[in-house]
Amino acid sequence: MRIDKLLANMGFGTRKEVKQLLKTGLVRVNDAIIKDAKTHVNPEQQQVTVNGETVEYKEFIYLMMNKPQGVISATEDNHDQTVIDLLEHEDLIFEPFPVGRLDKDTEGLLLITNDGQLAHQLLSPKKHVPKTYFALINDVVGEEDIEAFKHGVTLDDGYETKPGVLKVLEAGPTSKIELTITEGKFHQVKRMFEAVGKRVMYLKRIQMGPLPLDETLELGEYRELTDEEIELLREATGK
Ligand code: URA
Repeated sequence: MRIDKLLANMGFGTRKEVKQLLKTGLVRVNDAIIKDAKTHVNPEQQQVTVNGETVEYKEFIYLMMNKPQGVISATEDNHDQTVIDLLEHEDLIFEPFPVGRLDKDTEGLLLITNDGQLAHQLLSPKKHVPKTYFALINDVVGEEDIEAFKHGVTLDDGYETKPGVLKVLEAGPTSKIELTITEGKFHQVKRMFEAVGKRVMYLKRIQMGPLPLDETLELGEYRELTDEEIELLREATGK
């Protein structure tokens, strides 16, 4: 990879700015000063430093966000703030995007990455990656609903869902539940409850595949996944 591309990718400015930086003589590859922007480097094998500081090169970024309500799961929107608007510059330079969508009024675990292949695998209906949601429902949720979800329910457009695992945490006029599904149809959880005559009043994703939501993240906060977490995600997609 060309040194100017590597430095631009790592947030050292535009290609033009990086060219100026190289001219200052502050960039070294394995201790040799590099001034030519066309110089090829192998970031896995060579040490690149800027002003004595090592540049840790990485191609991909993997973030877990605790998505707040009112924010859109998209990279751009004409009206509303997006989850990408909540990212720091140092993460934006990787041009990440959300892995699937949570509704504007849904909170919780959202993965954001620039690894298109992993994102695709995680979303592929063939991979059956489970997603678990916590919800408040406007009615008593009971055995009948558990049974209905176990067999799959018919959504408003006639689609028969795959089985879902419904756990009732607290039954009452407002019930607390957890639902695990392996699909990601538009508004799926809300529409599954509509199918049994009930309404989701609050929805939060608490788990995606092997990863639970990091509850230490405040709404709107995010963090990078650890190497172990990335590996668990890959395993969940069978890779
Ligand atoms: N199901 C929904 O209805 N909404 C979401 O945001 C996610 C799953």
